[in-house]
Amino acid sequence: MYQSPLCFSSAWVIRDRRTTMLPCCAVRTCHVLVLVLCLSAAEDFDWTKNDRGSFYYGTFPAGFSWGAGSSAYQTEGAWDQDGKGLSIWDVFAHRKGKILQNDTGDSSCQGYYKIKEDISLMKELKLDHYRFSISWPRIMPTGIKSDHVNEKGIKYYDELIDNLLENKITPIATLYHWDLPQVLQEKYGGWQNISMVNYFNEFANLCFERFGNRVKYWITLNNPWSVAVEGYETGEHAPGLKLRGTGAYRAAHHMIKAHAKVWHTYDNKWRGKQKGLVGISLSGDWGEPVDISNQKDIEAAERYVQFYIGWFATPIFHGDYPQVMKDFIGRKSTQQGLGTSRLPTFSSQEKSYVKGTCDFLGIGHFTTRYITQKNYQSGHGSSSYFTDRDLAELVDPRWPDPGSEWLYSVPWGFRRLLNFVKAQYRNPMIYVTENGVSEKIMCTELCDDWRIQYYKDYTNEMLKAIKDGVNVRGYTAWSLLDKFEWDEGYSERFGLYYVDFRNKNKPRYPKASVQYYKRIISSNGFPNQREVENWKRKATETCSSSNQLLAAEEQRSTAANILRLIHDPLTSHMEMVTEVVVPTVCTLCILLSAVFLMFLLRRHN
Ligand code: NOJ
Repeated sequence: MYQSPLCFSSAWVIRDRRTTMLPCCAVRTCHVLVLVLCLSAAEDFDWTKNDRGSFYYGTFPAGFSWGAGSSAYQTEGAWDQDGKGLSIWDVFAHRKGKILQNDTGDSSCQGYYKIKEDISLMKELKLDHYRFSISWPRIMPTGIKSDHVNEKGIKYYDELIDNLLENKITPIATLYHWDLPQVLQEKYGGWQNISMVNYFNEFANLCFERFGNRVKYWITLNNPWSVAVEGYETGEHAPGLKLRGTGAYRAAHHMIKAHAKVWHTYDNKWRGKQKGLVGISLSGDWGEPVDISNQKDIEAAERYVQFYIGWFATPIFHGDYPQVMKDFIGRKSTQQGLGTSRLPTFSSQEKSYVKGTCDFLGIGHFTTRYITQKNYQSGHGSSSYFTDRDLAELVDPRWPDPGSEWLYSVPWGFRRLLNFVKAQYRNPMIYVTENGVSEKIMCTELCDDWRIQYYKDYTNEMLKAIKDGVNVRGYTAWSLLDKFEWDEGYSERFGLYYVDFRNKNKPRYPKASVQYYKRIISSNGFPNQREVENWKRKATETCSSSNQLLAAEEQRSTAANILRLIHDPLTSHMEMVTEVVVPTVCTLCILLSAVFLMFLLRRHN
């Protein structure tokens, strides 16, 4: 039982990347809800004993794995090199108006050419593991094995894996971090089509065959929620489809089946020899009831989480979709006059095939929302994933939000989410596959004390969750480098290392958070207050010199750019003179002389 520490009158803002996608009947604009709240109700979760603000000094279990992550399209660049095929993200980013400032991942961090350099950054951090993804079209250009296998692509991942192992860094490989081969999208409609299950399985099987002697941790799909909702419902992500109310559910259904098939392939064919583990990485916010004494808010908050992580985790752990999804989407489909639910169903055979297909659960987590009940009328043609949930999302404006519009720092939500996972899915083995914070600052800032704070508080909540009994085995900071942030282009920087994207060599510079994260890793936690306070002081001391270095470098490149700008009109003017003006004038002269000559000759005759 606990007294909620919240007892205030405050302006709570409905502000979220995802709520802005709602049709105008919903919360499209940034409304400000002024709620007068005095929350004093009780709750009996053990994990709320600690005051939300308190800090827990202590260490993680021995063998806890610390890492950082990346994904292929976000960092590799080399989008058309060495026989790589097109992915849906190559095509989507090349369409005007899809990505902020029309940025693309064409060259990104040039990670494809920087294996050794990037591994030295990981060594600097003393990472235990590195999470990366394998680009499907880099090793199967059309996505179909019988068409072609690109050995040069395989060689790149071979080298990456070998170098990681030589440096005692465990590779964690994701098979699908959103870059579906474009051919599969064009031919079949991508994840809308059940045929993706077999194509994905073929690709995964090739990866097990070629890399499985060295890779022991496999993640089938990264954040299928985002693929389904942003790729097939709102169209903000590739492939950019807006199939509201149906597209996301269909895509998700096929992804769940694809995940299960790949797990079975590993289990039947490779596990005996390779002895690895296959999991999935699910991302989800925590949803906290606005009023914890209001049953409707409590239910709405649970629905929020069930429609997020539960959508995928419940079939995988229990064999079917969460009851609340079946009820809500089913009821709304009937009200819309549909004969069947927009949420697909699993046959009983499929249920047992999908159930239990997870050796470990990857959790990606960044932020939290307050949730309240809100009814949406389900008229004909107005369905959407968002209105199916019958809720509204709110944020507390006092929560820090240094970067992405949707990302508020709410560390206590992390502990709650981890405990939810423990309770719902019988305490599975968890690897945190993504957690971190971005910045949206125009000028360079390597002294990222807000990121230090975020990592400190979030990893501390994870430590509390472990003390609560949650089975968390590893943590992956997101991300190692600044990189292409999907529809936000390069405007949101999540990296521990700053990347200078204006320089074609894409040099990396450590932010202060590198120093801080390094200390958490080497102490395997937080030894005592005095030491931990020292870390922050030391981290911010070193960043000022790196900041100066980078500022000087930037001044140099700005000066070079200005020179190029001055130089450019001059050279193009001279090119015009030599290539257009000179030949035209000469031709005219010859013509005029000929005419004049003819005139003279005529007069002479
Ligand atoms: C989750 C995605 O998996 C990752 O690629 C992205 O960078 C983060 N969210 C931050 O938006």
